[in-house]
Formats: sequence, C-alpha cells, structure tokens
Amino acid sequence: MTHYIITGSSSGIGKALAKKALTKNNSVVSGISRTNDWEAPGFTHHVLDLNHLKDVISFSLPHQPADEVILINNAGYLGDIKRVGNASDEALARVFNVNISAVAIMMNKFLNTDYAPGAKKTVLNVSSGAGSYVIPAWASYCASKAAVDMLSKTVKAELDETGNNARILSVGPGVVDTPMQGEIRGAAAEDFSRVEEFKTFKTNNELASPDEIAEKYFYVLENNLFADEVVGSLRDVTM
Ligand SMILES: NC(=O)c1ccc[n+]([C@@H]2O[C@H](COP(=O)([O-])OP(=O)(O)OC[C@H]3O[C@@H](n4cnc5c(N)ncnc54)[C@H](OP(=O)(O)O)[C@@H]3O)[C@@H](O)[C@H]2O)c1
Repeated sequence: MTHYIITGSSSGIGKALAKKALTKNNSVVSGISRTNDWEAPGFTHHVLDLNHLKDVISFSLPHQPADEVILINNAGYLGDIKRVGNASDEALARVFNVNISAVAIMMNKFLNTDYAPGAKKTVLNVSSGAGSYVIPAWASYCASKAAVDMLSKTVKAELDETGNNARILSVGPGVVDTPMQGEIRGAAAEDFSRVEEFKTFKTNNELASPDEIAEKYFYVLENNLFADEVVGSLRDVTM
C-alpha cells in the first residue's frame, strides 16, 4: 500500500494530486488543510492550520500500514501582493509559517517516524520558480520558496551522510490555473508591476490545469526524476 500525506488537499494542485493518488492501485490519502469540501473512498481529511505553528508542532502525522509513504508539502500562501513596507506584518509572518516553518516541521516529523520495516519514504515539496527569480511584490513568497529549495537540498545531504535513502524533492509546478493565480490577477497595478502579464497568461490559455500538473508530478515520482538534483521544475519535464 502507498500512503500519501498531502497538505493543501482542499484546492488547486493539492486537490488534483490527492485525486490522482487515489486512482493508483492500493493507495490511501491523508489530506491536510484548514477546510475541505470533498470526500472519496481512501481519503481522510485532517484539519490543521499550518500558520499556527504550535498546532503543527503538536500534530501527529497520520499513520497507515504502508510499504511506501509519500509526504507532499503542497500547501502554500502568497501573502499580500505588495512591496515590503506596504505589506501587513501578519501576512509576512504567515507566508513564512505556512511555506517554510511548517514544511520543515512536517519533514522533521516524517523522517523521524518509523513506518513498516523497509518502507520507502519520499518528501515532495511543491516549490516555485519564484524561489529562483525575483518578483517585486512577492518578496516573502520568493524568499520562502528559496528557503524550501535550500531546506530540501540540505536535508538530502544530511540523509546521504547517514545512509538514509529517503528521497527528497523540491519541484516547482510552473504557472497553474488555481485560486492562487486568481489572487495574483486581482492585485493592484500600483502594487504589482507585472499584473498585466499574469492576466495575459490566463487570457492566452498559458496556465496549466491542476490535473495536468498532478499528472506530471506523478511522472516525476514514478520515474525517479530530480532524485540527484533535489530541486527542479515541471517546466523541464516532458512526458
Ligand atoms: N498556482 C500556481 O501557478 C503556482 C505556481 C508555483 C507554485 N505554486 C505552489 O503550489 C502550491 C499549491 O498552490 P495552488 O496554486 O494549488 O493554490 P490554492 O489553490 O490557493 O491552494 C492552496 C492550498 O493550501 C492550503 N493552505 C493555505 N494556507 C493554509 C494554512 N494556513 N493551513 C493549511 N493549509 C493551507 C489551502 O487550504 P485551506 O485554504 O483549506 O486551508 C489550499 O488547499 C503552493 O505551495 C504554491 O506556492 C503554485
């Protein structure tokens, strides 16, 4: 049995990943988010606010008698789309809580958990090209995603030192038609200089669908892509 633990399973990429996982033979999915409006056989939802780090710290990772366990840290928060100096303090803190602190804590719990003897472990962190490219008005988001890439690379190096063969991946999806992109298009032009470009992605049908992206993430997992590099982008994946 393969057990998928997926954060941000209520919407967008996370929901598509959870539904795709459930099409696989002998799979179960534990979804984690603040809200949830769907159910399916094999899917269990856990309510957790990843911004509340005390709750994240006391959260017990769901456990199943699986021979493969895959943690997908997908939940993400863009924050206020405003230049630093104009953003809310609360939004800045929340970006780092959800996008990096909670991810590090979830990885720590996951790597510290004993599953069935010989069980394969994978962590897939959903990162972003914004972790490598400067996008004015997204400073905290860019910084948090850069941190996810570095966290992932460093954890992989740590596992290599101890001979632990858990797989660690930090892979950005490209631009995807989810509520997050809707928030981006809704930003004010005086705050976000690139808002028209992002509106054009939508009108030119340049956004990938969450289902296409879930398909590609599974292609990465099943073909062991980026296993050595750790960090990658679905933009570089051709199926
Ligand atoms: N869409 C894109 O173009 C794009 C591009 C690059 C990277 N990404 C990354 O892809 C991932 C998924 O994004 P998406 O586009 O699918 O966004 P989305 O549709 O807005 O979904 C975000 C998910 O994260 C969860 N989430 C947000 N804050 C949370 C919190 N405090 N506690 C628990 N869960 C929380 C939401 O669940 P609740 O609201 O129910 O809590 C939701 O399920 C993110 O990490 C994002 O940074 C997206």
